[in-house]
Amino acid sequence: MIILGIETSCDETAASIVVDGSEILSSVVSSQVDVHYKYGGIVPELASRKHIEDIVPIVKEAVTKAGINFKHIDALAVTQGPGLIGSLIVGLSFAKSFAYTLGIPWIGINHLEGHINSVFLESNPPKFPFVSLLASGGHTGIYYVKYHTDIELMGQTRDDAAGEAFDKVSKVLGLGYPGGIEIDRLAKKGDPAKIVFPRTYLDKSDFDFSFSGIKTAVNRYIQTHGDEYKDQIPDIIAGFQESVVDVLSYKVLNAAMEKRCDQISIVGGVAANSRLRERVIKDAETKGIKVHIPSIDLCGDNAAMIAATGYHYLKNGKASDISDDVYSKMTAS
Ligand SMILES: Nc1ncnc2c1ncn2[C@@H]1O[C@H](COP(=O)(O)OP(=O)(O)OP(=O)(O)O)[C@@H](O)[C@H]1O
Ligand SMILES: [Mg+2]
Repeated sequence: MIILGIETSCDETAASIVVDGSEILSSVVSSQVDVHYKYGGIVPELASRKHIEDIVPIVKEAVTKAGINFKHIDALAVTQGPGLIGSLIVGLSFAKSFAYTLGIPWIGINHLEGHINSVFLESNPPKFPFVSLLASGGHTGIYYVKYHTDIELMGQTRDDAAGEAFDKVSKVLGLGYPGGIEIDRLAKKGDPAKIVFPRTYLDKSDFDFSFSGIKTAVNRYIQTHGDEYKDQIPDIIAGFQESVVDVLSYKVLNAAMEKRCDQISIVGGVAANSRLRERVIKDAETKGIKVHIPSIDLCGDNAAMIAATGYHYLKNGKASDISDDVYSKMTAS
């Protein structure tokens, strides 16, 4: 089954052609960083307008790169939520009209399920059931994955997402937006043990997170160290990153042990973080747990993960209806 995937939930316009939920023929991602950079964060209205400009050329590019034409497309999968309402509406409206015109089925996909399924686009994917840590710009949670479309939430952040903490710390230190990549790069030049920030485990036996305290701790450090902090930025960042990584690694491995799983995955934008990848692999090894992490291109938002997820609904005869609408917040799944 050849599926066209479409993703417009936030600040990337993406389209992809995926065969049978696992083979990527093309994956095109157009980032809007240039549009939002000067504001230090995403401006929703500008994001929607840019999606409108980009959606048609990006879909055409994905189809051309895949070496197919429109009549080869069997079905369409599109992000339905959660995300920015205006941005989601662009993708969903395009998908509905495209599918209607071609007379093919389409399915609305939960963006977070998309991230969790991204790992199935790699060779040697995990076997069910497994535990997944999803850490992205808007969400951070631990999931028990029984099947592609049967996913149970074990715990999630009570305030900021991990990616949001990276972005906010980056902003306060004047390192720009998006913050994750820059922090990852600069932290390599710092000493993570020099400035130690708190680790918020909450209840060590559950799987909820809290990242707003670490952001406040970095803020307080800056405020109490005058201009002196400016020479310590790599150490501050390395200390901050280590604190976040410690908590994420501890909780995902604990969740795997509770569920007696010997496989975990890490997905979402923060899964691109080099220190997190290194630490989780090392910690998991001591417990005999195998770690699955998608390649960097599949960690951030992309449409291949949406097409891959859609396949598992569509092949079982599920499809969305023209009256279905977008949703901004996570709904119970
Ligand atoms: N190397 C990195 N280290 C740490 N964080 C990173 C890295 N690369 C990207 N990020 C973070 O990942 C986030 C973006 O991930 P993603 O695109 O999955 O989030 P989103 O789609 O905006 O949110 P959500 O998936 O929750 O709706 C940003 O917060 C960004 O700073
Ligand atoms: Mg995302």
